[in-house]
Amino acid sequence: MGFSVHWSCFAVLLCLLCMGGGVRCNCTDDNMQIEGGHYTLTKQLMSGSTLIYHCPEGFYPYPTLSRLCQPTKIWKPLPKRYLHQTCKMIECPDPNVLEYGNVFPPQERYYVNNETRFECYSGYTLRGSTTRVCLPNGKWTGATPICSRDTGDHCADPGIPAGAGRSGNIFGIDDTVKYSCNDNLYLVGSNERVCQENGQWTGTEPACYYRHTYDTPLEVSEAFGSSIINSLTTLESTEDTQEGRKIRITKNGTLNIYIAVDISESIEKDQIVKAKDAVTKLLTKISSFAVSPNYDIIFFSSELFEIANIINFFGGNKKSLQSILDELEKFNIDERDNAGTDLNLAFTTFLERIAVIKQQAGDGFKDHHHVLIFFTDGGYNMGGSPSPTVAKIKNLVYMNHTGAANQQTREEFLDIYIFGIGVDIYDDDLQPLTTGTGGKHYFRLKAIDNLQETFDEIIDEEDVKGLCGLHKEYDDQTKESKQKMYPWAAQITNRKCMGSLVTPKFVLTAAHCFKFEDLPTDVQVDINDGRGLVKKVKDFKLHPDYNVDAKKNEGVDEFYDYDVALIELEEYVKISTDVRPICIPCTKETSEALKLVGESTCKEQEQLLLKTHLEELSFLTKNPKIEQKDVLAKLGDNRNECIGHALKAKGITTKDPTVAVTENFLCTGGRSPRRDHIACTGDSGGAVFKNYEHRTIQIGTVSWGTKNLCKAGGVVESDDASRDFHINLFRVVPFLKAVLGNDTQNDYAPLQFLED
Ligand SMILES: *[C@@H]1O[C@H](CO)[C@@H](O)[C@H](O)[C@H]1NC(C)=O
Ligand SMILES: *[C@@H]1O[C@H](CO)[C@@H](O)[C@H](O)[C@H]1NC(C)=O
Ligand SMILES: *[C@@H]1O[C@H](CO)[C@@H](O)[C@H](O)[C@H]1NC(C)=O
Ligand SMILES: *[C@@H]1O[C@H](CO)[C@@H](O)[C@H](O)[C@H]1NC(C)=O
Ligand SMILES: *[C@@H]1O[C@H](CO)[C@@H](O)[C@H](O)[C@H]1NC(C)=O
Repeated sequence: MGFSVHWSCFAVLLCLLCMGGGVRCNCTDDNMQIEGGHYTLTKQLMSGSTLIYHCPEGFYPYPTLSRLCQPTKIWKPLPKRYLHQTCKMIECPDPNVLEYGNVFPPQERYYVNNETRFECYSGYTLRGSTTRVCLPNGKWTGATPICSRDTGDHCADPGIPAGAGRSGNIFGIDDTVKYSCNDNLYLVGSNERVCQENGQWTGTEPACYYRHTYDTPLEVSEAFGSSIINSLTTLESTEDTQEGRKIRITKNGTLNIYIAVDISESIEKDQIVKAKDAVTKLLTKISSFAVSPNYDIIFFSSELFEIANIINFFGGNKKSLQSILDELEKFNIDERDNAGTDLNLAFTTFLERIAVIKQQAGDGFKDHHHVLIFFTDGGYNMGGSPSPTVAKIKNLVYMNHTGAANQQTREEFLDIYIFGIGVDIYDDDLQPLTTGTGGKHYFRLKAIDNLQETFDEIIDEEDVKGLCGLHKEYDDQTKESKQKMYPWAAQITNRKCMGSLVTPKFVLTAAHCFKFEDLPTDVQVDINDGRGLVKKVKDFKLHPDYNVDAKKNEGVDEFYDYDVALIELEEYVKISTDVRPICIPCTKETSEALKLVGESTCKEQEQLLLKTHLEELSFLTKNPKIEQKDVLAKLGDNRNECIGHALKAKGITTKDPTVAVTENFLCTGGRSPRRDHIACTGDSGGAVFKNYEHRTIQIGTVSWGTKNLCKAGGVVESDDASRDFHINLFRVVPFLKAVLGNDTQNDYAPLQFLED
């Protein structure tokens, strides 16, 4: 100790000396090498620079992961002469904690790729994994093995995770088990669990982490996804006859989301750009749910940089998501001096804002749900510990119900998530700050690299499968990404038509895809839900007013009004990220997708979706890959010119275009004001759709066109005169409602249509 004090005095002196001489003084790179690895510096050898050690996969830097060049120009921690810096093999926590069973092979230590096998004593049965492999992130694959026998206990044996010890061996109602981690491991998750009346343990299974243990992006997306989704939706499991469960969104409550990103030097610079990207992705993802949260977004070091202030969300001038995203994009940290980290400042800021909200909301505050999300390594060097501030936040949100019994009633209104990011994460300081029900709240990431992808994966969650029109948005031109972008796309293969999945049991297409004599068994529907491509058809219904000959004697050889049909499948398709229904007009689900609050109407939906006189819409083609075609629907003043071209179509002799093109059609095509794509043979029956805030709404079905410019299919551009006509679904709602909303049958769950 005395030694290092002496040396730092000396260094300060030396520094003053060299500054006086106009030269800057730096930390030294003597004795910094690491055996088996290398190091990088964030700011060369200057003050504030972090030295980060790197090791090959399967190894970690020992005894320290990084060093900081302090203003005194001394490294912290200082390299120790007797403890050589080296790359050590990554270990997984000790699996030999299994009760009533044996672990093979028995070893002192387990390294990456080592495999273990578990066997229970006779009379005991094994739950969890029978074999596990040690991974390069310091965790075992699979689940904790548990050997138990039926003792009539109320809760099942919760087991002992690798590296841990447990006290408590009785599993009746209200019995408690406590966990701790051995050696130099520390515990992530619940250190105490209580057996509840419903037979489940409270909290989450704890895990023992080394300083070099990290969560993989997949683990984070699974755990964070299932946890945050509790805040974004409330589940209503209706009859479980249906594959996709129904989702109802909390309408009463207000969701307030506070995001804080640590931009101090202790986190590497390129990671901050990635943090910005990840926050952007998170916000976009959340916006695809029906809730519209209020946001507070800050970046912090020793000072605070505000991106969005939640107070602005109250009282009229609500910021749009896009304006927040723009602010985020604009934020640049290069211009700032980020010395110092004041984590408590971030918490205090949120505390103050929650207090203001409480004051403004009055009694309504009890329906406010608060979600705080932090990205930090926890290495604060000013402002003190945030613990007392967190206690105040809890007291505020729990409304003084902090006594053990009452607290639980309010616990679900506050979630604090922490993403520990960086080479050296201060877990002991950070983990106790997390709070909330329903799953893991503390995550440990080596780098922020995959966080964007992590947040994107959140919609894979089982619970959101039922939401119509949800889709992924990245296109890497592979078949898989196409299917995820258009998970509702179906094909009526043997009729060369497209269709769209509108419920787990119905496909919407064009009536003209069917022949007069067709039976359900003649029609082949392809949907790739992993249970066989070809779906059996139970029945199909054409619109009752569809009659291709209706206007033969008025100069229209083939009349396509009401050109829609619904195909009922024999079985429900399996809903997943790859296969999911599209939203259709005038349903309650679509109002939720459009974020229409209160008693919304069909008309409101239409006004929102077809609001300008040139509305951007799309439909799909297959040749042989699925591709998107983009068109402008000519509405209002633009419509007459557009439908006028119908008179040049073959088989039309009337002088009045509205005889062939009734009010029920949307018109697209031509080259003005933009060259539209044109429909090809084979595109018929497909959805004409629009993406709205990350959800897809079907507006029409592809029906007929004036010219056949592309028998072979593909993405083809229109010529001057060519036009396409699509049935506007808003005009055929009674038909859709009669079939899809039919609640006098027991074959399928009816869709909920709006009253008017
Ligand atoms: C300190 O480091 C900077 C950047 O590497 C360098 O330009 C400067 O010359 C160094 N000063 C001394 C005294 O070594
Ligand atoms: C465990 O891993 C270490 C390091 O890779 C290796 O030397 C050892 O042979 C492995 N043990 C077994 C039983 O595979
Ligand atoms: C929602 O609010 C309404 C009126 O404020 C109330 O009648 C209803 O019970 C609330 N619903 C829930 C689930 O709290
Ligand atoms: C909570 O406690 C604080 C301080 O003890 C007090 O000022 C406040 O009025 C209490 N709030 C409620 C809702 O009881
Ligand atoms: C609704 O279901 C009932 C009972 O199966 C059936 O008789 C009726 O035809 C259905 N309505 C429509 C429009 O399909």
